[in-house]
Amino acid sequence: MKVLVLNGPNLSRLDIRDSSIYGDMSYPQLVAHIKSAAESNGFEADVRQSDDEATIICWLHEAADENIPVVINPAAFTHYSYAIRDAAELVKAPLIEVHLSNPLSREEFRHTSVISGVANGTIGGFGPNSYSLALIALKTLIS
Ligand code: DQA
Repeated sequence: MKVLVLNGPNLSRLDIRDSSIYGDMSYPQLVAHIKSAAESNGFEADVRQSDDEATIICWLHEAADENIPVVINPAAFTHYSYAIRDAAELVKAPLIEVHLSNPLSREEFRHTSVISGVANGTIGGFGPNSYSLALIALKTLIS
């Protein structure tokens, strides 16, 4: 089964972001990690990244139209994009929000997620394993 794994702004630059927060995996390494975790759980991951809100909204529309489950790290959009929230709400297949870091242990503006309310669940704080755990949760939700 196909799963869309959507990554928001600045995640393509993991190699130059703060490694004490985001770890030392580059974005291409993260993509390889996600694809392998997906395969172990019986999924084929289509992993995408965009810095553009509209593009992420189009991808969520695609998931809604084609009934594809979603794992999404909306990155900074998590904290303020009502447009991404509304698009995520259209997805009727399971949708899981993930974060590499634990936003609740960071600055106060990161404590709000406008996406969580329309996600089946949120996993954060486990680095790349947040994605692996999300894929395990997805498998459980679907079977
Ligand atoms: C993030 C957390 C967000 O607060 C931040 O803006 C990101 C990445 C994470 O994966 O930990 O860009 O979503």
